[in-house]
Amino acid sequence: MKLGELERRLGRRFSRATTNAVVARPRLWGLFRGPLRVLFGRMAPQWDSMRRPDALAPLEAALDALPHAPRRALDLGTGTGAAAFVIASRFPEAEVIGVDIAEEMLAHARQKTPPKLSARVTFQAADASRLPFDDASFELVSLANMIPFFDELARVTAPGGSIVLSFSAGPETPIWVAPKRLRAELGARGFGEFADFRAGLGTALLARKGEPV
Ligand SMILES: C[S@@+](CC[C@H](N)C(=O)[O-])C[C@H]1O[C@@H](n2cnc3c(N)ncnc32)[C@H](O)[C@@H]1O
Repeated sequence: MKLGELERRLGRRFSRATTNAVVARPRLWGLFRGPLRVLFGRMAPQWDSMRRPDALAPLEAALDALPHAPRRALDLGTGTGAAAFVIASRFPEAEVIGVDIAEEMLAHARQKTPPKLSARVTFQAADASRLPFDDASFELVSLANMIPFFDELARVTAPGGSIVLSFSAGPETPIWVAPKRLRAELGARGFGEFADFRAGLGTALLARKGEPV
């Protein structure tokens, strides 16, 4: 069933309320997880038509500044996979995993995977708050319009690896976290060398995890 404008508006508000609550108190995620999964599952068939054509411009600007090409990349909250495809296209040696809690989104992502990327891009149902991956197993972790779970981000990013958090409409994005907060949370977990980007209507933050001591 097609989502009406009222449901979309409520969805945007719920997404922002969830983001604010979970960034302030990650343990609240358990209350929001089910409703948010249902919400995005319902949006999946229309998701690509709801996204702005330049939605990933800030992500692309940050990727331009990566210090080195990643061999293994993780796209959290991948939705229909757009950011995973961008990363795989840019870095022809990279294996890319896109993760989402909404199976309906992943079904679209799998269906849309270009044949030339299908050997390197896979999609997996998982929760970004408890990822089924080893410590330090990704050289790049991307989040496009996605709630950050900082402890897991720090755990799965390899020392010397990078993370990119992008927001397609800057502070107007329903899922948005203030850059100051992002820097504070990431800085407390060993990330530094922060760089900000603007492109289209959006913003992105690039951060690098420190080398092992
Ligand atoms: C606003 S959409 C962004 C989708 C895509 N990154 C894009 O920019 O088009 C957020 C996505 O994150 C997923 N999501 C939200 N919380 C999640 C979590 N804890 N773990 C994995 N995926 C999550 C939702 O199901 C949804 O597909």
